[in-house]
Amino acid sequence: MTSNRLAIGFAGLQFKNPFLLSSAPPAMDARHILRAARVGWGGAVIKTVTEEPTVDPRTRLGALRTGSKLIGMNNIELLSREPLTTWTEDWIPKIKAEAPDDFVLVASIMSSPEPEGWTSLAETFSQTGVDAIEINVSCPHGSPEKHMGAFIGQDPTLVEQVTRAAKKGTDLPLFVKLTPNVTDIVPIAQAAVKGGADALSAINTIESLIGIDVETATPLPIAYGMNRKEQLSTYGGFCGPAVRPVGLRVVSQIAKAFPDTPISGIGGIDSWTSAVEYLMVGSRTLQICTAVMWHGFSIIRTIIDGMTKFMERKGYETIEELVGLALPKITTWTALSKLPPVVAKVINEKCTGCKNCVIACADGGYVAIQMRDGVAVINREKCDGCGLCAVVCGAEAIEFVHTR
Ligand SMILES: Cc1cc2nc3c(=O)[nH]c(=O)nc-3n(C[C@H](O)[C@H](O)[C@H](O)COP(=O)(O)O)c2cc1C
Repeated sequence: MTSNRLAIGFAGLQFKNPFLLSSAPPAMDARHILRAARVGWGGAVIKTVTEEPTVDPRTRLGALRTGSKLIGMNNIELLSREPLTTWTEDWIPKIKAEAPDDFVLVASIMSSPEPEGWTSLAETFSQTGVDAIEINVSCPHGSPEKHMGAFIGQDPTLVEQVTRAAKKGTDLPLFVKLTPNVTDIVPIAQAAVKGGADALSAINTIESLIGIDVETATPLPIAYGMNRKEQLSTYGGFCGPAVRPVGLRVVSQIAKAFPDTPISGIGGIDSWTSAVEYLMVGSRTLQICTAVMWHGFSIIRTIIDGMTKFMERKGYETIEELVGLALPKITTWTALSKLPPVVAKVINEKCTGCKNCVIACADGGYVAIQMRDGVAVINREKCDGCGLCAVVCGAEAIEFVHTR
């Protein structure tokens, strides 16, 4: 299934393909990770481990739907529920012994801002046979209340301090997993690089309130207060396809600012196209959580198949050729021409006559579209070239053409 075309080097490691399970439930134990290894994943980042095992609230996952379509999820889950020694003495040796030799295993660790914990955890996991260490300074819920996770990841001084501390404990490649819950990602990434990060992983989940059960005025996901009866919830981490625009933005900003630092792109990857998007904004490897939680480990087959066919069709020999391809085309708003000479054009054979574009343009645009003989027709004098008609068109029946 895999081919050399998909192989890529990353922070001194060699991957047979760029796809890893991200640190999350699909990487919760040896059994899960070994099943993923067998269906062709390039590697896995284990569920984050800290000094104390986690006890989680129930329920802890919430859905974002538009109509019946699932587009995002949030969670109020914390870290690994097993003691650290289960990983170091049992699961990691088992995975290393039973997974294919070219399967890359990354330990994810978290500690308080005190440097000693990071050095000690990095040291402990480095002796287990893992190939790299990822430090989690990015969990947006629960952990910040304990001055961990995104509490650290939002403060450049702490990020540099804990990165340096973890680096002290290991000779393995060190990845720093960043939080998108900051105003400007660049100073945070810079602090990680200054502290000695060999690679950056982005993004962890986005702090969110996924919704309210309006019948009972209860925030979602519904969990329970300490009396085990009162229904309560808290802010969680948002993930899945709906976060992809934030992930792409963050990865592209880091890639532009630190072209020599490898990036592992994360956030809403669920198809070969979204994987290629992340490569084109500068990722060299790709981590996936939600798509596996929704569709299973075997989604990797569809993604690898689609990506391989795309590369063959376009003549790309290596993944390397795709990395950062779109970056030179991302500029500032100021650098864009304000009078682009384009107008919408309907591809008549594709138009289904649904009128979505007519309604949208009438009330949210420039009143430039009418129906004629069951097909949308653009008034080129009125069309502003804003793009709304193409946004609402479900048939990809609109393109933009130069007027001069
Ligand atoms: C239920 C759940 C638990 C997660 N636990 C962790 C964790 O322990 N450590 C971590 O670094 N990220 C954790 N994440 C974040 C994911 O690894 C990933 O960064 C995020 O979900 C975005 O990717 P996705 O859109 O593919 O899910 C968790 C995500 C979910 C949904």
